[in-house]
Amino acid sequence: MPRAIRYLQGQLLILDQSIDGGLPNNPRYIRLKTYKEVIRAIKELKIRGAPLIGVAGAYGLAIAALSLKKPTVEKLITIAREISRARPTAVNLTWAINRMLKIICDSKVPASKLPQLLLKEAQDIEAQEEKKSILIGEIGAPLLKDNSRVITICNTGWLASPGIGTALGVIYTAHRQGKKLQVYVLETRPLLQGARLTAYELKQAKIPYTVITDNMIGTVMNQIDLALVGADRIARNGDTANKIGTLSLAIVAHYYKVPFFVVAPTSSIDLTKKTGKEIPIEHRAPTEVRILNNIYITPKDAAVYNPAFDITPNSLISGIITEKGIIRPPFTKSLLKIKDAD
Ligand code: MRU
Repeated sequence: MPRAIRYLQGQLLILDQSIDGGLPNNPRYIRLKTYKEVIRAIKELKIRGAPLIGVAGAYGLAIAALSLKKPTVEKLITIAREISRARPTAVNLTWAINRMLKIICDSKVPASKLPQLLLKEAQDIEAQEEKKSILIGEIGAPLLKDNSRVITICNTGWLASPGIGTALGVIYTAHRQGKKLQVYVLETRPLLQGARLTAYELKQAKIPYTVITDNMIGTVMNQIDLALVGADRIARNGDTANKIGTLSLAIVAHYYKVPFFVVAPTSSIDLTKKTGKEIPIEHRAPTEVRILNNIYITPKDAAVYNPAFDITPNSLISGIITEKGIIRPPFTKSLLKIKDAD
């Protein structure tokens, strides 16, 4: 699989995923040389997708540490906190930064040795998340039969995660097993991660796909066998935050009795949130809705509501596919169990 980010001697080489970044027709790689540039790239969605921003945040901290003339624990903690605030909804970012903080606070080595330890931890996080994506693919693939028609939202493949991704990783694995699939890709307004990024990945993988606009869900659902989506944060009761539009997809899938599965590594589970109501939802700039293809499609001052994520209640979720197995409702006990064994 190609990679969306690569650590190269104190810098991150990334494939720009922002709406004006070149994908899908003119892919463009850029170099991030400082942790401030990493934060900016995360905020501007040049790097995106929950597992990938976790890895990028960890590398951002390692890059900062390596560049400091005199690293101190206090300075590193301040930078870590700054990075973890880049985007609020995907828990993978705080999860990865917390692992880095553990190295900073618990290692009994002089502060000058911390940069190398932090780089090693970032590399471990990346390698472990990659392994999880392979396991998730293998565990989820049996849900797809030959000729299955599957619907998905946003982008959950190698652009969103180290390895093969989550929901898209399940699709890649089933395809590799020889199953014929048809993937319906929701375009995913306002930033079109489905139309731009998922369609790009599926085209490269030669998996048949059809892009539909978000308001076509109801019309196509009677032709769908399975819905697979990613997650930015899963609360203790299974309520799941994911890209805006996931809730509508889940409601329509429920109406048509189409199984609806969330696919995510255990790093996306947040046991500190009892229900989805406690998950912070990122609200983004109105211009993301007002402007399309550099043209205002609304009056320039149109009032806009632009939450980047919504919460799908556990009652609409048939199961959660993780690297440790598929969890079925009721979710709380199983989520506590698999997270405990982390
Ligand atoms: O705003 P984005 O593009 O970062 O949102 C991404 C999603 O909502 C994905 O579905 C989620 O992060 C899972 S990615 C494997």
